[in-house]
Amino acid sequence: MRVTIFGATGLLGKALMRVWQGDEVVGFGSRDADIRDPQQVREAVQRTCPEWIVLAAAYTDVDGCEINPRLAVEVNCRGAVHVAQAAQETGSRLLFLSTDYVFDGKKEVPYGTDEARAPQSVYGKSKAEAEVQISQVLPHCCIVRTSWLFGVGGRCFPDTILKLAATRPEIEVVDDQRGCPTYAPDLARAIVELCRHNAEGIVHVTNRGECSWFEFAREIVRSAGLRTVVRPTTSDKYVRPAQRPKYSVLSAASLEAHGISMTTWQDALCRYLRERERAPGVPGHTIPPGKK
Ligand SMILES: NC(=O)c1ccc[n+]([C@@H]2O[C@H](COP(=O)([O-])OP(=O)(O)OC[C@H]3O[C@@H](n4cnc5c(N)ncnc54)[C@H](OP(=O)(O)O)[C@@H]3O)[C@@H](O)[C@H]2O)c1
Repeated sequence: MRVTIFGATGLLGKALMRVWQGDEVVGFGSRDADIRDPQQVREAVQRTCPEWIVLAAAYTDVDGCEINPRLAVEVNCRGAVHVAQAAQETGSRLLFLSTDYVFDGKKEVPYGTDEARAPQSVYGKSKAEAEVQISQVLPHCCIVRTSWLFGVGGRCFPDTILKLAATRPEIEVVDDQRGCPTYAPDLARAIVELCRHNAEGIVHVTNRGECSWFEFAREIVRSAGLRTVVRPTTSDKYVRPAQRPKYSVLSAASLEAHGISMTTWQDALCRYLRERERAPGVPGHTIPPGKK
C-alpha cells in the first residue's frame, strides 16, 4: 500500500513515520507542501499517488488560533479541504485527524461519535468545520478524533511537567478539566490498523481511562520518581485566550467496533517515560527500579 502523510514533521506525524512498517510511506512537512496552497497539495498527491492519505497537518496552537483566527481557518479548514479535493482527484482514501475540542465539554459521560459538534474555541471551530466540509467532498473519508496527545519529539504536557518538576518543589495544575491522554505511538498504530481495515466515518481514538490535568501531572511526577508536590487548582486562576472543554472524554466504542483496543493512559505514560529516557537531547529522569 502507498501512503502519504501530511504533517509528518509533527508529534503524531513523527510517530506515524516510525511505526508504519511494511508499506510505502512518504511524509511531508509544511516546507515540502503547504496545505494552504491547493497546487502544492495536488502536486504532492499526484507525485506519490497514494491509496491512503493521512492528514495530520494542522495549526495546533489552541491559544494562537484565538489570536490568529484567519490562519486557523486557512490551515485547519481550507487546507484540509485542499487535501480532500486532491484525494478525490486521485481516488485516494483520506484519514483526517480531528479533536475532542469539537465538543463543548458540558457532558459528564464519554462523547460518542454521533453527538452534535459544539466547539467553543477558534481551533475547535476550524476543525469542526473541516470535518463537515471534507465529508462533503469525500463522503467515505475517515475522521479520527483524538485528545491530549503526548510523545517524544514535540512539545507536550508530560514534558512540560517534568521540566517544571525538575526545578520546583511544588506545582499547581488545574483539576476541573477532564479528558483522555493519548500516547502518539499508540494513536499511530491505531491509525495504521484503521487504514488497513478500510475504515470510514468518525472514530474516537485515545488511550483508555480518563483523568484531570492535575491527576495526569501527579501520575507523571510519581512515575518519574520525582518528589515535587502537585497541587490541584481551578481554571479560573489560569485564564487563557482559548476556552477549553471541561469534560472531553471520548467513548472507545467506535474504535472497539474495528476490533482495536488501547492500553490505559497510565501504561502509555510509563512507556513514554522510558522512551524519553532513551531519546537524545532530552534530560533523563530516573525511573525507580521495579516500576514499569
Ligand atoms: N496535540 C494534541 O493534543 C492534539 C489533540 C487532538 C487532536 N490533535 C490533532 O492531531 C493532529 C496532529 O497533531 P500534532 O500534535 O502532531 O501536531 P503538531 O506537532 O503541532 O504538528 C503539526 C504538523 O502540521 C504541519 N503543518 C502546520 N501548518 C502546515 C501547513 N500550512 N501546511 C502543511 N503542513 C503544516 C507541521 O509542519 P512543520 O512542522 O513542517 O511546519 C507539522 O508537521 C492535528 O490534526 C491536530 O489537530 C492534536
